[in-house]
Amino acid sequence: MPKADDGELLLLDVPQTERVKTFKRIENPIWTNNKAKLIERYLYYFAWVTHHGTYIDGFAGPQRIENQDMWSARLVLANRPRLLRHFFLFDIDAIKVALLNQLKLDQPPLTKKEKRSIEVYQGDFNSNIREVLKAHPIKGKEATFCLLDQRTFECDWSTVEFIAQHKPAGHNKIEIFYFLANSWIHRAASKKNKPAMRRWFGNDGWEAFLALKSVARTVAFTERFTKELGYKFAYSFPIYGHDSNGGVRTMYSMIHASDHPKAPVLMHRAYQRAETVKEDKDQLELISRQAEKMKPCSDGAS
Ligand SMILES: C[S@@+](CC[C@H](N)C(=O)[O-])C[C@H]1O[C@@H](n2cnc3c(N)ncnc32)[C@H](O)[C@@H]1O
Repeated sequence: MPKADDGELLLLDVPQTERVKTFKRIENPIWTNNKAKLIERYLYYFAWVTHHGTYIDGFAGPQRIENQDMWSARLVLANRPRLLRHFFLFDIDAIKVALLNQLKLDQPPLTKKEKRSIEVYQGDFNSNIREVLKAHPIKGKEATFCLLDQRTFECDWSTVEFIAQHKPAGHNKIEIFYFLANSWIHRAASKKNKPAMRRWFGNDGWEAFLALKSVARTVAFTERFTKELGYKFAYSFPIYGHDSNGGVRTMYSMIHASDHPKAPVLMHRAYQRAETVKEDKDQLELISRQAEKMKPCSDGAS
């Protein structure tokens, strides 16, 4: 397997490949430009399997205002059929919130059969999510996906805990797709960021965490979702980019935590197919049935 400039293995990091014994090795690595396509494709599968659902996006504004074609919230809203019923979109930046409100206005009218609500909230997600879920609690049976696509340290660990604990016991927890910075994490760890990093990590363990090598860091953080939050499954998906010397690096990982055995299988498929033509209804039926048979390992994270 080829190695990236920072010594990491390309395609899939070794610990993940060994854990996901039933998965084929990833053939089409996702690059930073295509991360939104991965999210779009996964939600396409998710909605097909659940036939309903809630999408929470904690950091929902477009990363690049000039490239709204690669904006996760926009792509997920554009998925058809429109099976997801509730959207909760958050951002702290007034300009991004204006874009989110415009996105809401731009949605084509619903047909009689379609049900959909879109709510946009401005402010710090870490406090807003508590208010919003207090006012609109998510029922145990409601399939819910939460994207935490922060830049580096904006999402507090207590917020991740709050989301994981929101649903009543005995139901699948809210699925989380969590952004873990990699290539610039040491650069971002400045003295002035220390309070934010403590909130992000949840305690002072961030110093020992940052001392780990890249792959070990990803494995350790992924394991927090199973060990600390009690998710049945947690896998990390590397997102690649080029560094200033033109070398290939894992820029960041997206950690997928879920309780549903189909979820990791479908995320793995989404990762492989994000850039291909979307499957039709018959193929989706088949994919859903195959995912049923293909149980992921449940003996740990990553
Ligand atoms: C990496 S971008 C999100 C990219 C987006 N998911 C996409 O597909 O293009 C991070 C966003 O988080 C917002 N943000 C930063 N801190 C925040 C906070 N505390 N609460 C809510 N939003 C925040 C930024 O304004 C920015 O729009």
